[in-house]
Amino acid sequence: MEFPRLRMRRLRRDILRPLVRETHLTVDDFIMPIFVDENISSPKEISSMPGYFRLPIDGVADEVGKAMEMGLKAFILFGIPSYKDEVGTSAFDKDGVVQKAVRSIKNEFEDAVVITDVCLCEYTSHGHCGVVEGRKILNDPTLPILGKTAVSHAEAGADIVAPSGMMDGMVKAIREALDSEGFTDVAIMSYAAKYASSFYGPFREAAESGFSFGDRRSYQMDFHNSNEALREVELDLREGADIIMVKPALAYLDVIRRVKDKFGVPTAAYNVSGEYSMVKAAGKMGWLDEKQIAYEILVAIKRAGADLIITYHAKEIAELLQ
Ligand code: PBG
Repeated sequence: MEFPRLRMRRLRRDILRPLVRETHLTVDDFIMPIFVDENISSPKEISSMPGYFRLPIDGVADEVGKAMEMGLKAFILFGIPSYKDEVGTSAFDKDGVVQKAVRSIKNEFEDAVVITDVCLCEYTSHGHCGVVEGRKILNDPTLPILGKTAVSHAEAGADIVAPSGMMDGMVKAIREALDSEGFTDVAIMSYAAKYASSFYGPFREAAESGFSFGDRRSYQMDFHNSNEALREVELDLREGADIIMVKPALAYLDVIRRVKDKFGVPTAAYNVSGEYSMVKAAGKMGWLDEKQIAYEILVAIKRAGADLIITYHAKEIAELLQ
């Protein structure tokens, strides 16, 4: 059938459009990031991420409560500790900033899904995601530290741990550490295809995780590649990842689609800090309608194949969807 009997516009009338809509964005798709800072006593706005705040430990449960009222259910925590050293000791401190925050959330909101970012960059004095020797970021010596960190998060009550450091073998090390301590039901969401990206700029202010030398290109992926992302995902699945992630999201929709098509496993995408800040900046200038743009971006990420989206727009868009 073709024109004039076929008319694509027939189904575009306002009352018919919802019937043929292919992608539905809901609050169930969102994971809201929370920055918890051990060094502050009241919320502190992140200057490169307007509208986003670091929270003191005792402010976290409140924020989760408010978000849950809007229908949000899942949260990913990033910690800013008061103490940093060469090997990131406070990452696995039982009374560390994330461990305390997880406990405070789970005390009040058992049903909140608590995910913890497992990485060393916020906890090391040099800001790299692994143990350092000279100017080299070492892979294997980092693995047991990640295992210990994941276990300490699980002990505090985390439902899912999310290793983001792009160390080879990190998922295996964490799975073994969790299982040997009896945490067989704690899931792993691996930042499997994480690119060395300039879109993380604002996060490094937010999490105080900027590095003192070099860059992250010896461990994070080269953004010119996407076959490599499939290999990364395959390896993490073999090592025991339950959910895999592509990061960033907006400029990586092709990668999300390839990963989803090839593996068909629960796939998360991280709509990162720089993607948020660009929208906010243009909104501030009056150049774009920021809420509509954020909504369109999130729909695009879902349409590309993401089942879950970590996004700083979570609250705003939850409000829009209500
Ligand atoms: C830690 C980590 C980073 C992000 C999430 N976990 C920063 C980095 O790798 O440099 C970035 C998130 C964002 O930009 O929103 N490794």
